[in-house]
Amino acid sequence: MATATIDNLGLRRSPGGGDGTPPGGDPRLIDIDGVEKVYISRNGEQVRALADASFSIREGEFISVVGPSGCGKTTLLRIVAGLTPRTRGDVSLAGTIVNGPSRDIGIVFQAPVLLPWRTTMNLDLQRIWAESGKTVLLITHSIPEAVFLGDRVVVMTSRPGRIDRIIDVGIPRPRSMDCMSTPRFGDVAREIRQVFESKGQLN
Ligand SMILES: Nc1ncnc2c1ncn2[C@@H]1O[C@H](COP(=O)(O)OP(=O)(O)OP(=O)(O)O)[C@@H](O)[C@H]1O
Ligand SMILES: [Mg+2]
Repeated sequence: MATATIDNLGLRRSPGGGDGTPPGGDPRLIDIDGVEKVYISRNGEQVRALADASFSIREGEFISVVGPSGCGKTTLLRIVAGLTPRTRGDVSLAGTIVNGPSRDIGIVFQAPVLLPWRTTMNLDLQRIWAESGKTVLLITHSIPEAVFLGDRVVVMTSRPGRIDRIIDVGIPRPRSMDCMSTPRFGDVAREIRQVFESKGQLN
């Protein structure tokens, strides 16, 4: 599990125009465009880890990425953070192509932990995110966690990792644990589960 946090670069305060962003519009902080990753393993074999990933992240947004083991989630996060070179495609941060680690992007790698602590962490994480104004890209295996925390959930399917769909969670904030028993929460969680079930990949 890992989380990337991206500093508030003030795009929202931009008067607009300069970078083609309309005033008061919805500026993209990160653009992921046709990103592909092929690793060369030690015995020279090609491992296609990520295929044609494209989506944008708005400043201040909380994006959860969920997908089965080995589908390229960590690879995607590392590419966005400039820690792993991509094979194809582009990533840009506030309009500038990412070609190495940036001071504006921090990554926290977490060991999988027990549920009660995780719940506390999730409430804390939501609070920290809301207070900091940072943009977050969270990688997880947990569907409830992805839905509880995310503005949108990027659903990936197995290797070579593809984005199956991106779901707008649409549950108002701040969210308490109670939101997990709302019909909307159930609908979103079910939609994600069905993606995995239909592909024979249960989490
Ligand atoms: N350095 C590497 N060399 C070769 N293959 C790699 C390398 N790093 C990752 N891979 C392979 O690329 C694929 C995607 O790996 P990645 O770690 O991004 O998946 P993941 O979705 O984060 O998996 P998990 O949920 O288990 O953390 C896997 O098949 C993995 O074995
Ligand atoms: Mg991983």
